Amino acid sequence: MAYKVPDLPYPYDALEPHISEETMRFHHDKHHQAYVDKANAALAGTEWEDVRPKEILTRLNELPDELRDVVRNNAGGQYNHCMFWRSMSPDGGGEPEGKLAHAIKDTFDTFARFKETLTAAALSVFGSGWAWLAFDGKRVFIVTTTNQDNPVSDGLTPLLGLDVWEHAYYLTYENRRPDYIEAFFNVIDWDAVAEGFAEAPRPDVSDILDRPVSISGVQKRYGDVSYDDAKTQAAELKALTGWGPMAKVGTVARAWTALSVTLERHDAATVTDLEPSEVAQMAEELWIIPPARSMV
Ligand SMILES: [Fe+2]
Repeated sequence: MAYKVPDLPYPYDALEPHISEETMRFHHDKHHQAYVDKANAALAGTEWEDVRPKEILTRLNELPDELRDVVRNNAGGQYNHCMFWRSMSPDGGGEPEGKLAHAIKDTFDTFARFKETLTAAALSVFGSGWAWLAFDGKRVFIVTTTNQDNPVSDGLTPLLGLDVWEHAYYLTYENRRPDYIEAFFNVIDWDAVAEGFAEAPRPDVSDILDRPVSISGVQKRYGDVSYDDAKTQAAELKALTGWGPMAKVGTVARAWTALSVTLERHDAATVTDLEPSEVAQMAEELWIIPPARSMV
């Protein structure tokens, strides 16, 4: 099944004045089409012709030497641009909400810092390439790639890609890449980015969520622990601090306080609503699962 350039999910002029109609026509109809044509020509008649671009990008080392570069560049061009069109919207801009917003704040502290960091990364790309918000199953962060490489080749989930090839902005912004980057923030479709984040692979922590914990002598599932439960448990353990036979009690009491803070900061009703990586890390600190390394 040959690759195809998908129709834009909005009219060519919909992203004006931030991304011009002329830029979109050239970028989508000419540049993206060229990647697709070259990828199809390279893959036709090979055992790879029915493999999806994303999968090809995770198996580049298996490609025959004579195909690797041309496929890497052009299957990459297809995968990156399909994602790029979907990540923009005439109703875009603003800031993300929900779990994606929390993940961005966990890494960057504020949305403004995230914007600064992505901008700096996009400006740092020498020549042609992309700046990405990516996710490793635990946290979000920013990476850059050259040419049409994609973070998926390094085992990461790309959430948002910013195309900083000159073909993405030169018709309007000429050599003013910073102005184009600023404009891009006005059209980012954060709902689409959040969908990708929700679907990204994460560690399976279902067995950890099912572990029993005792809150004020009442047994519950760790996954059902709420903010109030964590506060209660922290207060009870704090009262026992210094009692000889329970040398670790102060540390564990602080971990229950930390859990209550995390639940509150992430607007999470229970532990189940937290990111799986946090569920696992907090479980270690609470001694619900044995710590990976000694706390001494
Ligand atoms: Fe592009």
